[in-house]
Amino acid sequence: MNGLPILVTGGAGLLGLHWAAACREGHPVTRTLHQRNLPLDGTSAVLLDLSDPDALDRALGAARVGCVVHTAGLTSVERCEQDPGAAEHHNVKIAACVAAAAERAGAAMIHISTDHLFDGKAEAYDEDSPVSPINVYGATKARAEEAVLRAHPRALVLRTNFYGWGPRHRPSFSDWVLDALRQDRSLRLFTDIRYTPIHISALIEIGMRLWATGQSGIFHAVGDDVLSKYAFGVHLAKAFGLPTNRIEAARLADETELVRRPLSMALSNSRLHKALGQSPGSLSNQLSLLRHQETTPAITEIRNL
Ligand SMILES: NC(=O)c1ccc[n+]([C@@H]2O[C@H](COP(=O)([O-])OP(=O)(O)OC[C@H]3O[C@@H](n4cnc5c(N)ncnc54)[C@H](OP(=O)(O)O)[C@@H]3O)[C@@H](O)[C@H]2O)c1
Repeated sequence: MNGLPILVTGGAGLLGLHWAAACREGHPVTRTLHQRNLPLDGTSAVLLDLSDPDALDRALGAARVGCVVHTAGLTSVERCEQDPGAAEHHNVKIAACVAAAAERAGAAMIHISTDHLFDGKAEAYDEDSPVSPINVYGATKARAEEAVLRAHPRALVLRTNFYGWGPRHRPSFSDWVLDALRQDRSLRLFTDIRYTPIHISALIEIGMRLWATGQSGIFHAVGDDVLSKYAFGVHLAKAFGLPTNRIEAARLADETELVRRPLSMALSNSRLHKALGQSPGSLSNQLSLLRHQETTPAITEIRNL
């Protein structure tokens, strides 16, 4: 896999930028752009209509792409609920088109899915748990998985929920918490949402290793620790030496105006553990990595975009 060209869709988004930056030394990387044009050193960028099979074939052929990493999508739960047609187009149709083009080109396909696929009533879900989405975002991401695996049976589907340093236009959850605490603003975090967050760099490393070892199918690419959003905020604050007293405990169950979200989004990562022979790493190690990365040149480049 070393040196094979990679095409990253959603190349100006949070994960797309990180994936491109992480791979650019070992692989030629092309990022596909949509509405936002952001430069990233050591990568090329192409404005591409991902629903156009001919345009996709040309782009994959021209770059001799060996692996497509599909991060593009409509990721706002609220926007998906307001416009289900757009959610279907951006999340399902485009994923199917990209997967079909990767299959025609003989390229591998890594599709990024979510932990938002279940009704949230179970303690944790594994890859064999039947999906049971409760909002439009989750339903379209579930249909996208099916469409991708139909079009590209050897695709890798990574269900995840990640944090990391985002570009200015796209702060991540950890950016949002750290910004508030550093500006001495209070913030409310839910105690009743349980999930298994993973550091963005660990997710990328896992995706690249699964590809390199010829894995396919669905994997829960998440961290080892199950915790609430509130607990994540407290751990994050402590890891950065920030006070925790501005973090207020709130309950999703009390928020009647918000789009319905699952209370448990915790995913079991045992299939991943078995495939790679090691765990993705503890929350405390990953938060130390986040802190260390804050001033590294590659991450500073992304944060300044
Ligand atoms: N962030 C998380 O914690 C999280 C959690 C679970 C799963 N995921 C999944 O991870 C993936 C990446 O998430 P992210 O947070 O990096 O997303 P993001 O920052 O919102 O980026 C998404 C990108 O997709 C592009 N895009 C949207 N519609 C497009 C279209 N029709 N054609 C081409 N490009 C299009 C956007 O481009 P423009 O901005 O130019 O329109 C944007 O660059 C998504 O599939 C998401 O569902 C994310």
